[in-house]
Amino acid sequence: MKGVVLAGGLGSRLYPLTKVTNKHLLPVYDKPMIYYPIEALTIAGIKEIMVVTGGNGAGDFLRLLGNGKEFGLSRIHYAYQEGEGGIAEALGLAESFAEGMPICVVLGDNIIEGTIIEAANAFREQGGGARIMLKEVSDPERFGVPVFEGDRIVRIEEKPKKPKSSYAVIGIYMYDSRVFDIISGLRPSERGELEITDVNNAYIEAGTMECSILKGWWTDAGTIESLLRASTLVASTGANKMQEF
Ligand code: G1P
Repeated sequence: MKGVVLAGGLGSRLYPLTKVTNKHLLPVYDKPMIYYPIEALTIAGIKEIMVVTGGNGAGDFLRLLGNGKEFGLSRIHYAYQEGEGGIAEALGLAESFAEGMPICVVLGDNIIEGTIIEAANAFREQGGGARIMLKEVSDPERFGVPVFEGDRIVRIEEKPKKPKSSYAVIGIYMYDSRVFDIISGLRPSERGELEITDVNNAYIEAGTMECSILKGWWTDAGTIESLLRASTLVASTGANKMQEF
């Protein structure tokens, strides 16, 4: 399995912190934000990683990450997203990098306490399709929210005003090579972007979506409040820990 870290966007919810730099280069406790998703992938045994960036400070990623030596990688691949076409459009830029292999996609502002090893193993065993990860949260309306019928997810609603469950779909997704066909058939949402939630709903409709519940804490870091929470959580317990929860 190959890894893709999505680190584009304007970071407008963090303005003016993101006026001259990319959100994913901001500090979370003692490291730049993008270190955490890269580590999450390498700890799960993923050795080939592409960073898709764009917006402000895109060139700084190369200076910061170089060839990925600090993460035990011999090379990092880079792609550049022009404009604000959304998460799914950014992922589409990784098609030739994926070379038909399954991929694990991590949004560059998602930080976890533990690992994705269990979910990655389950995804390898399911033999195709997709796998999302869920976490119970107190503010699901900020995220993609699964709608359940019994144990089964029947669809995901993006930032619903009235969430139908208390789970968030976190920004770590595993896909087979079909993902790129799905992305090429997507239409922009009301906010003019290709939505990752539409990709996930396509897998749900095809009956090939599985899910795992993440153990340990999870946070995004894309707002002033969550950026502070991310730093506080990392400072108090550390992130990407191999221990059981
Ligand atoms: C994105 C996704 C959302 C997901 C979230 C996780 O939202 O669209 O479904 O729950 O990431 O961090 P964003 O925070 O980019 O608006």
